[in-house]
This record gives sequence, structure tokens and C-alpha cells, in this order.
Amino acid sequence: MLRHYAIVPAAGSGSRFGGETPKQYQALAGRPLIYYSLAALCRCQRIERVWVVLSPDDRWWRQHDWTSLGHKLETVFCGGSSRSASVANALSAAATAVDDDDWVLVHDAARPCLSQANLTTLCDELADDPVGGLLAVPLADTLKRADEHLRVARTESRDGLWQAQTPQMFRYGLLTRVLAEHADGTDEASAVEAAGFRPRLVRGDASNFKVTYPADLLLAELILKGRVEP
Ligand code: C5P
Repeated sequence: MLRHYAIVPAAGSGSRFGGETPKQYQALAGRPLIYYSLAALCRCQRIERVWVVLSPDDRWWRQHDWTSLGHKLETVFCGGSSRSASVANALSAAATAVDDDDWVLVHDAARPCLSQANLTTLCDELADDPVGGLLAVPLADTLKRADEHLRVARTESRDGLWQAQTPQMFRYGLLTRVLAEHADGTDEASAVEAAGFRPRLVRGDASNFKVTYPADLLLAELILKGRVEP
């Protein structure tokens, strides 16, 4: 039986969000935003350990109490200059605990509304997959290409387009190899694609959105408060 591990890169500054405090530590229903992303992974029975990747000069993590997340959580202060560098550093830190064929789920710190249902679907649908994959949703909105004056240059077809979410789930060995060679993508799947593989899209839902702007916190709070989970 293959084991499942999780990595949460949380060493970014959240520049689009603005403000002094990094996005992952913004308050959401009385706790830091990242708490909920970590809690979703720690609560999942099949995940054995959750590594949260922090910046070496992070000064916010220690200001909060994380004990209620339990024994699965482990902090590594080895964040890099990009998301993929942070993930690659965490993979190195995990090397002694994880086998090449074990699954690693990489999840954004800023997706606090990941449901147990979506997490279970991801693990179930990819259980026998030779490559791995990611949660994603088909694009719902019409897409406009902007010109330099912010006028519509053209309408793009949305046929076959999906929005990538996280977790993104790949085997430890594969993920380590592809990130070493293709470190310029904005998610793990793009590194896997650049290495010639075709990750599987597993349908999630829009509630697992990434908190990016201050107004997103209210939406996240409404989703979390309206949810009843086992
Ligand atoms: O900037 P973006 O929202 O795409 O970041 C996605 C995730 O990657 C966030 O959880 C962020 O904290 C993390 N990240 C990181 N190290 C960086 C940049 C981003 O761990 N250098």
C-alpha cells in the first residue's frame, strides 16, 4: 500500500494581497488562513504527515498555537525564492521519510476551503494512475484577451480549458526529478508536463478557490461556516 504525504508551500509574501502580514497569516474566522488548509490535510486519514514550508525568516508562525492540528504537522523553514523552489526544498527535507513511489500532495496555503470530499476523490481517482494529477474545474466564464489599453482584443475559446487547483498529487520520485529540471512553472503539474507526462485532471469544485485579494476572505469564511464535515 502506497503512503500519502502532504507539502504546503507557505513561504510566499502574497504581494497581490498587499499589507504587512503575509496572506497565509491573515485572519479568517479567528484563525490564520493557513490553519484551515493545514487542517484539511491533517484531518484526512490517509495522509501520514504534513510538511509546512516556511521562509527561513518567517516571524509569524510562532505567534500562533498549532497544537490542535495534531502530531502529523511538521514545520520546515526552508522556503525558496519561488513556489517550486520551496516545494523542491521540502522534498529534500522529506527524503529520509518518503519512498520514491509514495504519493505527495502539494497544496497551496491559501486554499482554506479544500473539502474532505474533494480530497478523497483526488486520492481515489489517482490511486492507480501512472502519472498523478490535480484537482481542477472546467472554466465557466467567457475568456477575453486584453490589448495594451485594456480593451478586448478578442474572445478566446474556453473549450477544453480547466482551472488548475491544488492539491496536486504526484509520486515522490517523479516530482523530485521533474522539479530539479523544470523549476520555472507556477505549479507542480507544469513541471511534470514539461518532462513529457500528462497529469490527470480530477474534477473538483469552485469552493476550493485560492484566496488572492482581501475580499476573498469573506467568501472563504462563508464557505467554511456553511460546511458540515465529518
Ligand atoms: O503566489 P502564489 O499564490 O501562486 O503562491 C502559491 C503558494 O506558494 C502559496 O502558498 C505561497 O505561500 C507559496 N510560495 C512559497 N514560496 C515562494 C512563493 C510562494 O512557498 N517563494
